Amino acid sequence: MPEPILAVTGVSKTYKGGFTALHDLDLTIHKGEIFALLGPNGAGKTTLISIICGIVTPSTGTIRVAGHDALTDYKAARSRIGLVPQELSVDMFETVLATVTFSRRLFGRSGHSAYIEQVLRDLSLWDKRHAKIMELSGGMKRRVLIAKALAHEPEILFLDEPTAGVDVALRRDMWKLVHRLRERGTTVILTTHYIEEAEEMADRVGVINKGKLLLVDEKTALMQKLGKRELELTVVEPLDAVPDGLERWQLSLANEGKTLRYVFDSTEEDTGIPSLLSALADRHIAFKDLETSKSSLEDIFVELVGERA
Ligand SMILES: Nc1ncnc2c1ncn2[C@@H]1O[C@H](COP(=O)(O)OP(=O)(O)O)[C@@H](O)[C@H]1O
Ligand SMILES: [Mg+2]
Repeated sequence: MPEPILAVTGVSKTYKGGFTALHDLDLTIHKGEIFALLGPNGAGKTTLISIICGIVTPSTGTIRVAGHDALTDYKAARSRIGLVPQELSVDMFETVLATVTFSRRLFGRSGHSAYIEQVLRDLSLWDKRHAKIMELSGGMKRRVLIAKALAHEPEILFLDEPTAGVDVALRRDMWKLVHRLRERGTTVILTTHYIEEAEEMADRVGVINKGKLLLVDEKTALMQKLGKRELELTVVEPLDAVPDGLERWQLSLANEGKTLRYVFDSTEEDTGIPSLLSALADRHIAFKDLETSKSSLEDIFVELVGERA
């Protein structure tokens, strides 16, 4: 096994004031992966990314980036990383081309114009290269941030909440870009509080809540766990018990016998719903309402940690 591109070991962070945002976190990422760190607001995602990128100092633990210790060998580690921050932070008076070229030179790379041109073209920024950043729309400014992060050809790209508040066109371009980066072998780590985003993008997903990594799994395996849905049938005549012969669906009765509840896996080809409905019809059980709900991130946390986030 080659050395992982990123190894986070025993990282904790207690901010001044005493709040502990990360608790003894371990995470290993391999080269070329697209990894999504999924968790609700306040989970510690930005704190973790900021520590890896050397913006925030960890209270305990070590971080190795492409074999370089992020604390003792900061420059080497940092040069492997591109960061697209959650908040907009760009020099408004510079032009697009100047600011992106500057970002590249910061890491001691010469102004490799062909590479910069490709990045700007990939992000639909080439035509705007001589525009001042303050003249650009919010979506365009965000594209500039991505171009800046990629300017020095990093091996790992961090995207902190890349599509929160972003328009559809940018979102689509971003996904295309991420897939192109992956083809080139760039590792991409993104944070999100949208399950859909993790589902759409990632090879592997880590779920974080309250500063703890609750699980890390292949996306397909995780989506299966997250894919549970509930079907609620409101019956016309309240029932005393779940009718005989319906054991295979493991139904439960709620709401004083007025609601039949069925939990199914929406990722399965056969959800069991058509056969359930015909079994109910066979037994002359009429229902007046039918509703399905997707298990939310909140529900998943409830399942994982046994309490509300
Ligand atoms: N500089 C700071 N000082 C004190 N607390 C902070 C600071 N930055 C973040 N926090 C707290 O740490 C927790 C995690 O924040 P953050 O890493 O931004 O979460 P996320 O990115 O998952 O939304 C939050 O409760 C937040 O209020
Ligand atoms: Mg954040």
